[in-house]
Amino acid sequence: MFQKLHEPPSAQKLVVYIDGAPVDAERGESVAAVILRQRPLWSRTTAVTQARRAPYCMAGVCFDCLAIVDGVASVQTCLTEVRPGMRIERQRGRRELAR
Ligand code: FES
Repeated sequence: MFQKLHEPPSAQKLVVYIDGAPVDAERGESVAAVILRQRPLWSRTTAVTQARRAPYCMAGVCFDCLAIVDGVASVQTCLTEVRPGMRIERQRGRRELAR
């Protein structure tokens, strides 16, 4: 459904990992933009019904883009820029509070 409209220059290309799989990304784009190009298309499941959610507003409002980024849970991926080697995990259900 979503795809890039251009091929990024090689100097702008980088690789991130989504659930352990290498994925091409472009310097300056958000993690949510990368997630939107993946299949299956989802970033988290809800805490109660485990329904899948995917980035929606791309503006930090809906919280449907939450994922685990480099071990940090509930990161708003639409507000997070990709970095080389970044580890992104789809977030499943409820998070535990740090004590
Ligand atoms: S896509 Fe809505 S808060 Fe990130």
